Amino acid sequence: MAKDVIIALDFENKEKTLSFLDRFTGRKPFVKIGMELYYAEGPEIVREIKARGHKIFLDLKLHDIPNTVKKAMKVLSKLDVDMTNLHAAGTIAMMEAAKEGLTKEDGTCGVLLAVTQLTSTSEERMQQELLINATMEDTVKKYAQNAKAAGLPGVVCSPLEAKLVKEACGDDFLTITPGIRFADGDVGDQVRIMTPEKAKAASDYIVVGRPITAAADPVAAYERCVKEFLG
Ligand code: C5P
Repeated sequence: MAKDVIIALDFENKEKTLSFLDRFTGRKPFVKIGMELYYAEGPEIVREIKARGHKIFLDLKLHDIPNTVKKAMKVLSKLDVDMTNLHAAGTIAMMEAAKEGLTKEDGTCGVLLAVTQLTSTSEERMQQELLINATMEDTVKKYAQNAKAAGLPGVVCSPLEAKLVKEACGDDFLTITPGIRFADGDVGDQVRIMTPEKAKAASDYIVVGRPITAAADPVAAYERCVKEFLG
């Protein structure tokens, strides 16, 4: 898969989402549908955006017992999205079950990614609240190796850890990185962040939400991202 910029469609409903997408009259951006929009509108919003010609990353971050995740993935497989994901914290067994559920009868399967640690989690909170007695780097590396062991093609991680993931799992192992901010932009609640330009060294895809969706001119912000990341 070629490198690309994915816009996080973190909107509360279909109307706001479609009016945002209507601004993109040229190239159809790769988009991410997350919990907010999916829970508000259901699977129909995925079908509708797909029918408009966008590639879709369905970001529902599944995390449950293996059997439940497998069955949920089987349902999601019918939506035929380009990418979907789960939490690596659910264990290798859960990731294997998810892949099985997502794989169709003809053996094909969308790109299934594992979230390592959320980009909003700091090392301090991970250690003090979650009692993970390791560094952020070691945790992300181990989770990525677990995802690879489960047969997954890549992970969602901070751009700060993408290089480490590539070193641990190989250059072909995909890194999808949220936590992207322009050098002159707002950080918001994200902690482990990087600019699109710096992210290009080790990220295959960057996921960008508010720097584009909350910009005065979202199309210009998207184009700036594409230029910095792919240019
Ligand atoms: O607005 P912002 O650019 O921070 O949006 C980032 C998007 O990426 C959000 O939709 C968020 O849920 C998602 N995400 C993340 N960190 C992860 C995985 C997904 O920020 N580790």
